[in-house]
Amino acid sequence: MDKVVVTGGLGFIGSHTVVELQNEGFEVVIIDDLSNSTLETLDRITSITGKKPQFEELDLKNKSKVEAFFKTHSDVKGVIHFAASKAVGESVEKPLLYYENNITTLVYLLKTIGQLESSNFIFSSSCTVYGQADELPITENAPVKKAESPYGNTKQIGEEIIKDTCHVDADFNAISLRYFNPIGAHPSAKIGELPIGVPQNLVPFITQTAIGLRDQLSVFGDDYPTDDGTCIRDYIHVVDLAKAHVVALQRLLVKRNTTNCETFNLGTGTGSSVLEVIHAFERVSGEKLNYEIAQRRAGDIVSAYADTTKANEVLGWKAKSTLDDAMRSAWKWEQFIRKKI
Ligand code: UD1
Repeated sequence: MDKVVVTGGLGFIGSHTVVELQNEGFEVVIIDDLSNSTLETLDRITSITGKKPQFEELDLKNKSKVEAFFKTHSDVKGVIHFAASKAVGESVEKPLLYYENNITTLVYLLKTIGQLESSNFIFSSSCTVYGQADELPITENAPVKKAESPYGNTKQIGEEIIKDTCHVDADFNAISLRYFNPIGAHPSAKIGELPIGVPQNLVPFITQTAIGLRDQLSVFGDDYPTDDGTCIRDYIHVVDLAKAHVVALQRLLVKRNTTNCETFNLGTGTGSSVLEVIHAFERVSGEKLNYEIAQRRAGDIVSAYADTTKANEVLGWKAKSTLDDAMRSAWKWEQFIRKKI
């Protein structure tokens, strides 16, 4: 059984990926500092898969502890790196915190992994690197635009750091995965997204409004040059996204990768407007959502959706869930978690 380390493995995408890795027979060791997650997720993962992943509470900024951890786990075959700060607004307020949390830790991790016998690395990147792309759908060859925020910048810089590392170390194999908009939750409703405070992202805001935690959803602008005037994104079910990580890791482990530094878009290939997402939610939940049209949000791009040809053909992976599936699972999770708290 191959051993895999998942940093941030108790977070939203991380926890779903741990489940899929375990389902595929991997031995998983989770590193998480619990800054934006809870230990309860470990039990929930265990109740889904029937197998408790190993867990180490570890802050990746602690270089000596990271080194000690990988000395203990020198037989690890791959690392999937999710641990990072991800609030766009907060990153504007606290840029150095973001550079420290997302860049310093990446450097420590790569230095340490470079010493291992097997150094296979998967990096969580984002479609944010494309900004407003000139052409849609967006291929991996679209130019990387100047980042709108320190958070976005950490994803761009992270990819560059990985590229430079691949360049000097032929034994270091990396894949950067550029996520479009991950939404939804595990069909069991045992794990899902749990934003701290007021959600910044659309889908948790919708479900929290429907459950009564928020009064009203503001739709940020209906005067964009799109069919219904609202912005378009590529919403991908988190379980589909998680499965892509397993496939990407397997590609590295069997050395099917064509270069030691590859990049893939992970999306559905279909764009949905904000109003379409709201209507999908209303359809699957049977709830009427209280929303109003509000001002545009600064920094929003009009439209982004992926060309997924590369992931489809090279990874042999394709998102399977529909927007309705994802909204149904997000709603089920919201109902579950609010009853628990
Ligand atoms: C946001 C981040 C992006 C990050 C991604 C991760 C910003 C500007 N961008 O992307 O860097 O990688 O999350 O998931 O924060 N919307 C509303 N009302 C709301 C919330 C959102 O109308 O209360 C609209 C937005 O204007 C947008 C769409 O819903 O058109 C999706 O928004 P969101 O979920 O925040 O994702 P992104 O903006 O695509």
